Amino acid sequence: MSDKEIGTVVSTPDGPSPACLDFVVNEGTIHRGQFVEMDYSEGTMVALVQDVIKTNRYFERAESVKEFESSGRKLFEQFPTTEWEFLLAKTRPLGVYKEGMIKRSSFPPSPGTRVRVAAAETLKKFLGFDDEGLQLGEVEYHSLPVNLNMTKLLSKHLAVLAMSGAGKSVATRVIMEEILIREKEKGRMAIVVMDIHGEYTSFAEPVTDKEHKDYSSKTRVVKARDIKIGVPKLTIGILAGMLPGLSAAQQRDLGRILERMKKEMKDGLGPFDLGALRTELAKDSDLKDNTRKALLGWMATLDQLRIFSKIDSPSISDLIKPGQLTIIDLSDLINLKKKQIIVSYFAQKLFYERKNNKIPPFLLVLEEAHQLVPEGTSKEGAISRPIIETIAREGRKFNASLCLISQRPIQLSTTALSQCNTHLILRVTNPYDLDHIGKGSEGLDRRSLDMITSLRVGEGLLVGEAVNYPVFFKVRKNNSLESRHEIPLEEAAIKFEKEKEETRKEAEEFL
Ligand SMILES: Nc1ncnc2c1ncn2[C@@H]1O[C@H](COP(=O)(O)OP(=O)(O)OP(=O)(O)O)[C@@H](O)[C@H]1O
Ligand SMILES: [Mg+2]
Repeated sequence: MSDKEIGTVVSTPDGPSPACLDFVVNEGTIHRGQFVEMDYSEGTMVALVQDVIKTNRYFERAESVKEFESSGRKLFEQFPTTEWEFLLAKTRPLGVYKEGMIKRSSFPPSPGTRVRVAAAETLKKFLGFDDEGLQLGEVEYHSLPVNLNMTKLLSKHLAVLAMSGAGKSVATRVIMEEILIREKEKGRMAIVVMDIHGEYTSFAEPVTDKEHKDYSSKTRVVKARDIKIGVPKLTIGILAGMLPGLSAAQQRDLGRILERMKKEMKDGLGPFDLGALRTELAKDSDLKDNTRKALLGWMATLDQLRIFSKIDSPSISDLIKPGQLTIIDLSDLINLKKKQIIVSYFAQKLFYERKNNKIPPFLLVLEEAHQLVPEGTSKEGAISRPIIETIAREGRKFNASLCLISQRPIQLSTTALSQCNTHLILRVTNPYDLDHIGKGSEGLDRRSLDMITSLRVGEGLLVGEAVNYPVFFKVRKNNSLESRHEIPLEEAAIKFEKEKEETRKEAEEFL
């Protein structure tokens, strides 16, 4: 129990009630986001401080303050103003703790009840932290490590939402670091990251200093240009996903020819590529001419992407290992369609192989998730959406988890987002995004939403399955090598000019 008594419950027009309780601070200070506790007839009530207000009746009437101070004298020199200043904390009661059980708050403590700063030990149980869990950071002012149970955090999917630069990638790296250091006995998942900007590849670099942890032996990077999709591994379902414009009749014909070629392959002809499929389409005598023309056109669009080959490479079951991180580096790709096709293919494979227990439970991390699982875009512009939505809906049964990261939650598929049972929300100031987040996260009231706008970089709010109550906390720093993307603007500009200068000099010397 904490003996840090801090204040006394006061009576206000709307409290104390089971939903709203204010207290006056008698000693010390209290901050927004902190937790307090108080004993009363029902047990120990825990409440979240949502606002702290300083009041002083000497300064209540603006015109009197102005009149007095414009005489050249100061109010505090003439009157005992400091004695009249008090700090009022507005809180939201979260629940009542009694003999190890947590009840909803349904009956208020009386005005006059003494309030303490919540003890770390109470808070840990109250919030549902797990000593064996992933340590994401610390509850500020309580020195309480935020240890989250891995199942509760990830099995029903996680969404990391915030405006640009608020710390989403740092927080995601922390989660990845925590999974990678887990011991076998505690259960290790595999991690696969769809790395749109190539900002996670530094995990694969060996560390030479003492400040960072080395994850290079546990990390594999696959460059987009090295990815090949084996045509014999395609099914008509996968193809239809890649080419949402295929008509039912075209699907039937293409499926028939594909299956025939797969059979011939097994009979000894060996694996085939897109070229062979096109030749086969060109000569198949059962095809109507317009179907043939359409299918050949579709195959040409696929061929342009230059990612199809006779066999899959790299092979997914070789890549995905417990306690290992696989980074699919999509940073060289400009074509969104190609990114979506790769993501879609990998996600289908991962899900399928997980269902068949060929690969371990995994976490699939999607950066810029609104590009990969967009809301409202046509099927053609959202090739990877169906499979991600499927994993969002059904993944839990097979321990296939998603981590969706986005700075544009409004543009993110509501189907996928609504299946993310835990939300990690960092700083957001755009009112539309905030409103959207409020609608999508249960248990967030107006005040908590207001608090999100005042978060600093690296501070976050965790809501949902992973915690019993919403918690504001500070995400810890990364211990993996930071990505080299993050250099200050000045440095990048200087580097650019220096490099240009050098090339010019070299050219001159050469001449
Ligand atoms: N928990 C943290 N502790 C310390 N610094 C942090 C933390 N989180 C973020 N930062 C700082 O803020 C910078 C931006 O963070 P980050 O790259 O994670 O933002 P982001 O939300 O992923 O942005 P974007 O939407 O542009 O991808 C980091 O490079 C780091 O300097
Ligand atoms: Mg980022």
